[in-house]
Amino acid sequence: MSDEIIFCATPEDAAEAAAELIFEKQTEAVSGRGVFRIALSGGSTPKLLYQQLASEEWREEMSWDKWEVYWSDERAIPPDHPDSNYRLAHSTFLSKVPVQKIFRMEGEAADLEQVAREYEELLQENFDEPIPVFDLILLGIGADGHTASLFPNHAALNSEKRVEAVELKGERLTLTLRVLNAARTILFLVSGEEKAQAVKEILELGTRQLPATLVNPPEGECFWILDAAAARLLE
Ligand code: 6PG
Repeated sequence: MSDEIIFCATPEDAAEAAAELIFEKQTEAVSGRGVFRIALSGGSTPKLLYQQLASEEWREEMSWDKWEVYWSDERAIPPDHPDSNYRLAHSTFLSKVPVQKIFRMEGEAADLEQVAREYEELLQENFDEPIPVFDLILLGIGADGHTASLFPNHAALNSEKRVEAVELKGERLTLTLRVLNAARTILFLVSGEEKAQAVKEILELGTRQLPATLVNPPEGECFWILDAAAARLLE
């Protein structure tokens, strides 16, 4: 599938557009399959989106009891650490809405390989398909074109597994490209001037050294929601 790009003026507009897309996809998933399985990313960009999801406007709209929440990646830190991807989502929206099924990546564990294997087992149990098919995976990109915790030239990019423990910029856990590219919907939410060059490389030049370029589910849809600063260099 080709990328669908949604241009927004500001990070706030981009967060609203992302909430609307998530509502659309959760509604399709719940009516079609009775469940909405989403994987969340971290960093700072999703904060505005998470605050939207917990707001009056959306809190009453979503079928929260049908949501299963996973993560696309996590850092090797405790869940109450300021940099935890789980903590960002929990403090800004999961603690404010009645989602029951939350499957955290236990980044604080001493043996990350073991955690990666256990998360794979969890995915195997919860999903029907051998490669888990998420209804929606929320992703960001770094200025270097990384996404989730898949970094340029890293061996994890060629992994046959579903979850990898990676050592780079600290230790991390990440879903692999096999899982990202099995998704029904990928949602890249990108804002800020510092991402403009990577966005151009990925969307216009197709630079394959950038991991985010490699995310394009053949059976799914790939949306890019960009604010004006992140889209600045696109022709
Ligand atoms: C992480 C994220 C990562 C993030 C990008 C962008 O754990 O860091 O999952 O892939 O999406 O690094 O981060 P910002 O939103 O902070 O720019």
